[in-house]
Amino acid sequence: MSELNLVLLGPPGAGKGTQGERLQEDFRLPYYATGDILRSAVRGQSQLGISAKEYMERGDLVPDDVIIGVICDQLRSPEAADGFILDGFPRTTPQAEALDRAVESLGKELTAALLIDVPEEEVIRRLGGRRTCEKAGHVFHVEFNPPEKEGVCDVDGSRLIIRDDDKPEVIRHRLEQYREKTEPLVSYYEDKGLLRRIDGTASPDEVGEKIRGLLSTLRMEQET
Ligand code: AP5
Repeated sequence: MSELNLVLLGPPGAGKGTQGERLQEDFRLPYYATGDILRSAVRGQSQLGISAKEYMERGDLVPDDVIIGVICDQLRSPEAADGFILDGFPRTTPQAEALDRAVESLGKELTAALLIDVPEEEVIRRLGGRRTCEKAGHVFHVEFNPPEKEGVCDVDGSRLIIRDDDKPEVIRHRLEQYREKTEPLVSYYEDKGLLRRIDGTASPDEVGEKIRGLLSTLRMEQET
């Protein structure tokens, strides 16, 4: 079976985490979500967390040199030998270039950059109603994907919270950061022939189906 080395792209709240969880289950691949890694580091008060905290609270990106090493180390680990899913990385051109170098040095290739495309008004509605599991970051929405029991994670029973960076003024700033620093990666991957656009406006199940269909096609193409 051919290897899947995937990047998930898209604005804040597009559904990268929601689909990343499903992809991880479907394909049994290691899933590296930089936002989750950083939030866990902040909770654990590690050096990484201490460096990242203020940037995250403001909705700014953490500096490239803080995050690049973290992800490149993960990609070199044995668990990523047969493929990986990256969510939230790369987010700047220097990060994308560092990823290219890391992948090349491992003798691998990226399979695709999946852009989950959702307009800004929808993103704002999604982030406004998001509830996140305190322990492991499982994601729900009060209206679009409610938990069985209000305020409680279906997966591990922990408390559901509102993320600090889901306040309206921080959401606005995160969207500005996305437009300025991350959106250029759409053309970066388009130029490399790796970009695949997914309409992210349908329900989570429908978006998941579209992604599965796309990945099957990509695998068939790789194997012929
Ligand atoms: P991160 O955690 O990566 O935040 P993000 O990219 O802003 O993405 P989100 O987690 O907000 O959204 P998502 O696309 O995963 O959507 P979700 O599935 O939750 O990063 C946080 C911070 O960390 C950054 O601001 C930065 O400071 C730092 N950081 C991280 N990576 C970095 C990097 N590489 N470099 C520098 N700094 C970095 O869905 C959203 C809501 O919508 C949920 O409630 C969900 O239930 C609902 N939903 C999902 N899909 C659908 C659907 N199809 N229909 C209806 N509702 C849906």
